[in-house]
Amino acid sequence: MIKISSNKERDPSIIILDFGSQYSELIARRIREANVFSMVVSHSISKDDINKINPLGIILSGGPNSVYDKHAPKCDKEIFHLGIPILGICYGMQLMVMELGGLVIEAKNKSEYGRAPIIIDKENDLMFNVKSNSIMWMSHGDSINLLPKNFSQIAHTENTSNAVISNISKKLYGVQFHPEVIHSDYGMTVIKNFVYGICKCKNDWTADTFLDETIPRIKDQVGNKKVLLALSGGVDSSTLAFLLHKAIGEQLTCMFIDQGFMRKGEPEFLMNFFDKKFHIKVQYINARDRFIGKLKCISDPEQKRKIIGNEFIRVFEEESKRLGPFDYLAQGTLYPDVIESAGTNIDPKTGERIAVKIKSHHNVGGLPKDLQFKLIEPLRKLFKDEVRSVGKALGLPDEIIKRHPFPGPGLAIRILGEISNEKLNCLRDADWIVRDEIKKAGLYNEIWQAFAVLLPVKSVGVMGDKRTYSWPVVLRCVSSEDGMTADWSKIPYEILEKISNRIVNEVKDVNRVVFDITSKPPGTIEWE
Ligand code: XMP
Repeated sequence: MIKISSNKERDPSIIILDFGSQYSELIARRIREANVFSMVVSHSISKDDINKINPLGIILSGGPNSVYDKHAPKCDKEIFHLGIPILGICYGMQLMVMELGGLVIEAKNKSEYGRAPIIIDKENDLMFNVKSNSIMWMSHGDSINLLPKNFSQIAHTENTSNAVISNISKKLYGVQFHPEVIHSDYGMTVIKNFVYGICKCKNDWTADTFLDETIPRIKDQVGNKKVLLALSGGVDSSTLAFLLHKAIGEQLTCMFIDQGFMRKGEPEFLMNFFDKKFHIKVQYINARDRFIGKLKCISDPEQKRKIIGNEFIRVFEEESKRLGPFDYLAQGTLYPDVIESAGTNIDPKTGERIAVKIKSHHNVGGLPKDLQFKLIEPLRKLFKDEVRSVGKALGLPDEIIKRHPFPGPGLAIRILGEISNEKLNCLRDADWIVRDEIKKAGLYNEIWQAFAVLLPVKSVGVMGDKRTYSWPVVLRCVSSEDGMTADWSKIPYEILEKISNRIVNEVKDVNRVVFDITSKPPGTIEWE
């Protein structure tokens, strides 16, 4: 059973041993969607450390290697004898087979990538309620040629005889397909069969249980000390503000630094919302002149980011001294950041763990780790969708929870080239129209980000009887799951027309609107 106390953090019910698959994090997310707490751990975790966690089930992830590669990542063999149910996925299944005396071979001309109908040969608790001939997502070069003792074949595909295998008495299971990807028709059924049916996990990982466990722990940790939070108005820092306020009330101070690159009405909205409506103390710091002053004559995007990032830290340090002293700094670190910096990923060439390089430019607007505060990071075990659920459970409105992501350096990286107050005002007006029309059309929640970009060139136009020579605005609307890849949104022509008409009519110094139809890759979402 899961051990919960106010001091001890919850241990995961399911652990995922990461063998370098691009999907390891996704496996954890899917299990949590089934309301079971799961975490990704390194493949090299020892049997003793697993015993300390005492999980109800173990999943071995896929990975880019062949099990016979010189540096193929392995796990402690003893885990197969702990009596804890194990599900090996793709590489994880092949490794289990090899370690238990079976044979894996290179599937010459029989590798499978993409969709494959799976034919169920035998009834099995893992495949309960999965229809034979349904589509599962395959991605493998090697196959199992000989099963270990006491294993049997449960299902096959056209090219793979051992697509699902099991040793029921030892509760060891393997699937050659990827149940975690959405293209696998019954993927979630397989995951649920494993976590509920086989591992007997409870569906008790919810926003409410998270709050029940976390609020007393924050109280315990903070005692009567003071906490400072840099509030940006995004989902993470807003949820954190609500959570901390609920736990420690007036001991929390939020600091909102207005660098002058926010969207139209945003600083006013935030102050109104937190301070007036919810009585969460927010210190408003007007640093607009400082930031724009530092960016005079700067047009290189990376230089802009660096200057904004450094200035943010400087203002933060000065203001925290002025408002303090504070004992704790609250940070909205999320689980994907933790996985990345813990580096559970595997280098396929050396078999070593590698820390994924965090996209340094995306961290601008954050604070460095070496500030003289103790850190409190209550969201560090949550995925973004879980933060949204927690925010909702805390009473945050959709207006905050469903906001589009907004970059730390704000509009400064949406004005290409040098920034001026004139250009900022112009972009603010255009951006407001874009969001207004997208919302009116009911498209806001379907789109990942919709915004305007101001280009530093001028083109000729005609308005009334007058020739104009003004800036163009780019309309950028993308759909995406996580911002890593994106497709341009197919906005209906009538909406595009409305946006364009309004921008050229209502925004001073803009006489042209163009629509960006580049996906990511090869483009990026932002223009700088
Ligand atoms: P790109 O432009 O790289 O953006 O495709 C991917 C996602 O990251 C956001 N982004 C940033 N966020 N500071 C941030 O906090 C930044 O400097 C930054 N640059 C890009 C972007 O809005 C998108 O959601």
